[in-house]
Amino acid sequence: MAGGTSTPALAAAVTGAGALGSLGFAYTQPEGMQRDIDAVRERTGGAFNANLFGAPQPAAIEPSAQRAAIAAVSAYYEEIGLPAPQPVRPPYAPDLEAQLAIVESSRPPVFTFHLGELPARRVRHLQSLGIKVGGSATCVAEARRLETNSVDFIVAQGAEAGGHRGTYLRDPYDALTGTFALVRMIVRAVRAPVVAAGGIMDGAGIAAALALGAQAAQLGTAFIACPESGAARVHKERLLAAQEDETLITEKFSGKPARGLANRFMREMGAQGAPHLAFPAQNALTGALRAASAKAGNPDFVAMWAGQAVALARALPAAELVAALEAETLECLRRLAALRR
Ligand SMILES: Cc1cc2nc3c(=O)[nH]c(=O)nc-3n(C[C@H](O)[C@H](O)[C@H](O)COP(=O)(O)O)c2cc1C
Repeated sequence: MAGGTSTPALAAAVTGAGALGSLGFAYTQPEGMQRDIDAVRERTGGAFNANLFGAPQPAAIEPSAQRAAIAAVSAYYEEIGLPAPQPVRPPYAPDLEAQLAIVESSRPPVFTFHLGELPARRVRHLQSLGIKVGGSATCVAEARRLETNSVDFIVAQGAEAGGHRGTYLRDPYDALTGTFALVRMIVRAVRAPVVAAGGIMDGAGIAAALALGAQAAQLGTAFIACPESGAARVHKERLLAAQEDETLITEKFSGKPARGLANRFMREMGAQGAPHLAFPAQNALTGALRAASAKAGNPDFVAMWAGQAVALARALPAAELVAALEAETLECLRRLAALRR
């Protein structure tokens, strides 16, 4: 969970409890990646996952597009007490090659990428270093392509999922198949192991994913409210207050569609059809606004990523949550097995 939610403490606690902790490095500079990987290794000898976004940086942005995108957010900057936003300049995000160099030198046991693909040659090189490699798919075509590119496993990300849609071969709004349907279709379409993601918050969800033929489940939203997570306090509070699905998909925060708790920024920018820059330039443009809003405890301009099953979130320490998930999964499987009688 890039952007501050995943922390070495969270990843290490999850790994230490017997699951696979993840470090979301999409927005992390190489030095920070190395520091966090070392911090996880200091805390646990277990396997963990490092994750990057495979999205290419946009070409140069026209001044007119900059002006329009800035105009769309200026009033919010003023309202929160920030100086007027300035045109963003490349690089808008850390350099993917430099990030991959850290993955290659530090060799996390598992590496996954989201929002794109790596060529088969690169995947095989990572595998030759002893790294298990996975990629995200939001439709069957992406899963097939990832398999052609030799990944060890495929994360099937259903439309329920919190955070960025991993779609890279289609318009993301045409790739909103729910987890139930998507996992089953991908399991049938590829030979690689499938990891189900999207809307899974408890053992019943994990058991359902296993029943659909997934080998594992990937949970994001379920871990946001853990004390070890670095999510902003207002994000955790709103998440725990959610009574039902209160999420929307927006591209106005980063430039790519992502699901989060609905707030003023998402609603107003969406309703106006406000212009935005391409990913990740828009993420750079809204960065100061998001940070100031979070600091002020004001949910209006914070990207509070969350999946559709958000109302099932629990504020447990990560190790306790993993233990509860395991117990619930086994209990659910036992209950289902008893149906035979
Ligand atoms: C706060 C947050 C941040 C996320 N960041 C990433 C990320 O950096 N990389 C990634 O592959 N997926 C990311 N995701 C998506 C998850 O990998 C996964 O698809 C999703 O959390 C599953 O749905 P759920 O949130 O309903 O459990 C993020 C999700 C959330 C909620």
